Order: sequence, then C-alpha cells, then structure tokens
Amino acid sequence: MNQTYHNYYIQVESFLRGLRSELLQRAEDSYKIYQKTSKLDIVTEVDREVEQKIIDFIYGLAPEDGIVGEESFFIENNIKSAKRNMWYIDPIDGTINFVCQKKNFAISVAYYEEQVGKIAWIYDVCRDRLYGAIQNEGAHINGIPIPIPKDRPIEESLVAVAARTLYYLEENPTQVRKRRIYDALGFRAYGVSTLQMMGVATGELGCYISKQLSPWDYAAGLIILKEVGVLISDFHLSPPTLNEMKNSSLICATPKIYHQLFSL
Ligand code: IPD
Ligand code: CA
Ligand code: CA
Repeated sequence: MNQTYHNYYIQVESFLRGLRSELLQRAEDSYKIYQKTSKLDIVTEVDREVEQKIIDFIYGLAPEDGIVGEESFFIENNIKSAKRNMWYIDPIDGTINFVCQKKNFAISVAYYEEQVGKIAWIYDVCRDRLYGAIQNEGAHINGIPIPIPKDRPIEESLVAVAARTLYYLEENPTQVRKRRIYDALGFRAYGVSTLQMMGVATGELGCYISKQLSPWDYAAGLIILKEVGVLISDFHLSPPTLNEMKNSSLICATPKIYHQLFSL
C-alpha cells in the first residue's frame, strides 16, 4: 500500500465533496456562459471557478507537479512539457447538462506518474457519488468496492453512444464493425463522458463509444475502468493518448462486447 497515494486520495475526496453544496447552489443561480471553439463548446464562469479552486488545492498538495485543466490557458504548454507527475482536471464534465438540466454532471480528477494512471476521482455531484480508484487496489463508489461487471454480449447490453458519433462511424473508416453496434439492446446518451465510463464500470452499460474526447474527459475513467477489467482503446485499437488536446476517439467495453465490435 502506497501511503502517499492514500493520503492524496483522502484529501482530494474530501476537497471535492466540500465543493458540493456551493456547486448545487451555483447551478440554480445565474452565471455567465462563454462560447469556446463553437456554439456546442461552451464554458460557464462556474467551470472556471471550480477549476481554479482545484488547481489551488493541488498546488498546495503537490507544488512540483504538472496540472492539465480543461479551462486553463496553460494547458497546451503543460501537455507538451509533460512533467513526471501530472494531474488532469475536468472541473465540470457535462457543462451542457449543468446549464440545461442543472444535474447529470461530474468533477473529474486524475493523477498520473510518467503517463501511468495512479489515482482517480469522478464525483457525481448531484447524486453525491464518488467513484474512485488507486492503481491495483480496485475501484469503489463511496468506499464500496465495484465488482467486475458481467461480461454480456452486445445483444444483451445497453450502449452509450451519441447520434453524432454514430454518424461519424457511418462516414469514416475505422476498425470498428459499426453494424454490430446496432445489435445492442438499446442506446443511451447522457452527455457526460465520465459518468458514461462509470456506467460501464458498474455494468449499467456494456459499452461507451465517443468520437472525440480530450485527456481530461477520460484520464480518471481509464484508471477506474482498468481496475474492473473493462477494455479501452480508440477506434483504431490504439490506447487513448494523454498528450493531445482533443480528438481522441474512445471505446470502452466489457471484454465480450469489445471483441464483438472489433471482431477480434
Ligand atoms: C463533454 C462531455 C460530453 C462529450 C464531449 C465532452 P464537457 O465534456 O463529456 O459527453 O461528448 O465530447 O467535451 O465539455 O462538458 O466537459
Ligand atoms: Ca469533459
Ligand atoms: Ca468540462
């Protein structure tokens, strides 16, 4: 047992839980909304405030480490200079849900050493559910271990995939056997990548497929999913990278479905 990791785990968990009541209140208040790269890519002042708080906290905890936060202007430089110890933050995953639904969003924090995932936290704020993992020590929700999800075929499983991703798969060559996706029992799209990954971890979903994600969307999810034996790659069977800003596709699935989708 690595005492530093456990110490980090407890401190970050308590910090994230401490943000809950303010964040729930902020969801009800009015706040500024800004457009980033397109009208589908928005950020609120709440995202920025939350990210700054988490960054300040991590600097206090581990001042030498690198931090990649979705809303921070120094992201690109930080990705390029990739320090030995790196933190990846998504202050609000599901910003559009936060704005339109005031629920179904999460905070995601991951800690990596030399690109190896060590600790993960995904906090489903509204449900007060903290998904977490320390490498090789299993995954849990609010401290209760997550069992290995049942390995069902796609015909008996729900798949989380958005319409834009299905369209992308129709239009672009990939290694995915796209016809097999339509064999699923049903489709779901929650608009929050971290919680969809956690849906696969808990067995609510057999698979989550997305055409375009960034390191902060999946850095924590990868660590947790690995602990429960979920298989993960991009659409070309390569592991998702932590060194690119955007544009990594992602499939995470229980083994049977992963093999069905890639015909392995
Ligand atoms: C988004 C959500 C969404 C995914 C987008 C992400 P954000 O994150 O995770 O589910 O489809 O690609 O950008 O912008 O709300 O943090
Ligand atoms: Ca996100
Ligand atoms: Ca975000």
